Amino acid sequence: MPVTVAVVIGSLRKNSLNRQFAHALARSAHPTLDLRIVEIGDLPLYNQDLEAELPGPVRRFKDEIEAADAVLFVTPEFNRSFSAALKNAIEWGSRPWGRNSWAGKPGAIVGVTPGAVGTAAAQAQLRSVVGAVGVALTVHPEIYLSYRDGLIVDGEIADDKFRRLLNEWVAQFSAWIVRIKAPSA
Ligand SMILES: Cc1cc2nc3c(=O)[nH]c(=O)nc-3n(C[C@H](O)[C@H](O)[C@H](O)COP(=O)(O)O)c2cc1C
Repeated sequence: MPVTVAVVIGSLRKNSLNRQFAHALARSAHPTLDLRIVEIGDLPLYNQDLEAELPGPVRRFKDEIEAADAVLFVTPEFNRSFSAALKNAIEWGSRPWGRNSWAGKPGAIVGVTPGAVGTAAAQAQLRSVVGAVGVALTVHPEIYLSYRDGLIVDGEIADDKFRRLLNEWVAQFSAWIVRIKAPSA
């Protein structure tokens, strides 16, 4: 059985670099990991009043997160943080009280920006938030990607050095997922 990973992308725009990167990563991770994008663009803004009867997109989102073995956050950097859309999705995943879809999931964070810091600031903030909702985050290797033209060509990572780093990341993340999910003796 392939290990399934729910991929949550923090950018909503069609030509998002993070979405392109998520697709390229899904290709290079296959078949070790089965990366499936879980859409967040249709989630309403979190409002506790809506918890009485969860909106359809929220139920769909929570079901897809819960069905996966692990979660991967692919984050842009907006104003030295991660996006409001991603925070909104994290809120919905964590609620209602007692129905936290994130709890105990092995997880990882990657991100891409044209900026020089490669989403380091966004990832640092995201790490503390997803840790607080119970995601068991892996740390190494860290992937901070400063985008430049030619890095992703025809949906594939075109840089050999970076492709090798991603292969190492896939191996480490899949080992981490097995370790976190292994039943205790
Ligand atoms: C509102 C806003 C704030 C941004 N702030 C940052 C920032 O703090 N650091 C950075 O590296 N890039 C920043 N950027 C540039 C984004 O990283 C860039 O637009 C990136 O391509 C967004 O991700 P996407 O391509 O997946 O949509 C910002 C962009 C926007 C629209």
